[in-house]
Amino acid sequence: MAGSSEISPPVSPPVSPPLWLLAELTYRCPLHCVFCYNPTQYARLQEEMSTAQWVDVMRQARALGAAQLGFSGGEPMLRDDLEELVQEARHLGFYTNLITSGVGLTETRARKLKDAGLDHVQLSFQDSTKELNDFLSHTKTFELKQKVARLIKQHDWPMVMNCVLHRHNLPHVGKIIEMAEALEAEFLELANTQYYGWAWTNRDHLMPTHEQLIEAEAVVNRYRAQPNPRCRVLFVVPDYFEERPKACMNGWGAVFLAIAPDGTALPCHNARDLPGLKLPRVQDQPLADIWARSQAFNAYRGDSWMKPPCSSCDERHKDFGGCRCQAFLITGDAAQADPVCSKSPHHAKVVELVRRAPEHRVTPIVFRSDSESRALHPQD
Ligand code: FES
Repeated sequence: MAGSSEISPPVSPPVSPPLWLLAELTYRCPLHCVFCYNPTQYARLQEEMSTAQWVDVMRQARALGAAQLGFSGGEPMLRDDLEELVQEARHLGFYTNLITSGVGLTETRARKLKDAGLDHVQLSFQDSTKELNDFLSHTKTFELKQKVARLIKQHDWPMVMNCVLHRHNLPHVGKIIEMAEALEAEFLELANTQYYGWAWTNRDHLMPTHEQLIEAEAVVNRYRAQPNPRCRVLFVVPDYFEERPKACMNGWGAVFLAIAPDGTALPCHNARDLPGLKLPRVQDQPLADIWARSQAFNAYRGDSWMKPPCSSCDERHKDFGGCRCQAFLITGDAAQADPVCSKSPHHAKVVELVRRAPEHRVTPIVFRSDSESRALHPQD
């Protein structure tokens, strides 16, 4: 009221909608990748939502403003209702993306997914060689992935080829680009390993050297400098080798919403590992409440949770303090600055993790599997 001495309470900024919905349909997967980003305790999380429950989640997310929908896993092709979910998603107006290892993507299912309106496919490879691809996934899938890549192009889908990079395949980056070109991928995502989940368990085996990274990036830059390169290549430098953190998830609770197979809503893939979060389930409350009002989605939203040096940093609205999961794994406190940042008092721990990796490769590499999952979490 004009002239009133009453002071209005501060109005918190409105919460923007989740633009990107990730539907993790199942944690089941035929592959055993050493850098899988699924939770290491996945074997104890076998519950999966029904088709009707997923359709309800998609409807609610679309009503909230979500526009892009990724079907992921585990391996989403293991769900027999994938075509039905894609069809419903397209009907709701989502742009749909299938994130797959290729296993289960047969001619018949490709045709059905095309008819259902699937827009886009992301196919993972582990390497340009059969030996390393099959070793890192602990399966014989290299040739099958090549066939699936051709199938994707026969169905006129735009294809992102994704390859996670680490010390074993960084020297093959040139060959990986050649493979992506030969298979007519429009886009190649060379994503250096991020150290969470299974990759955190195997970090001493996967951590590259500075020299490997510099050489691989130079190969990518030479390819990009060619006249009219056929494939767009994204090279994501690993956080541990940077001086500033990535804007993880574009900020907590800003645009990204993942739903786990059992209906748990996650502000990031690894949020289960953060202590103190009360993770909501879509079976228990409306998605709009979860997104706007739940404790978990507000825990690190905005900047009021930040401690020094983030709280007064002039870059805090650019990187949002970095990654909460990385801060927790390395410092034991998810509200610390991401220690990748050179301003963090814990930055030396990241430098040490990189330095000691070659000396610490004494334990065997751990392949993702139900038995390893249970061994890592015997108490759950
Ligand atoms: Fe969880 Fe970055 S992966 S906040």
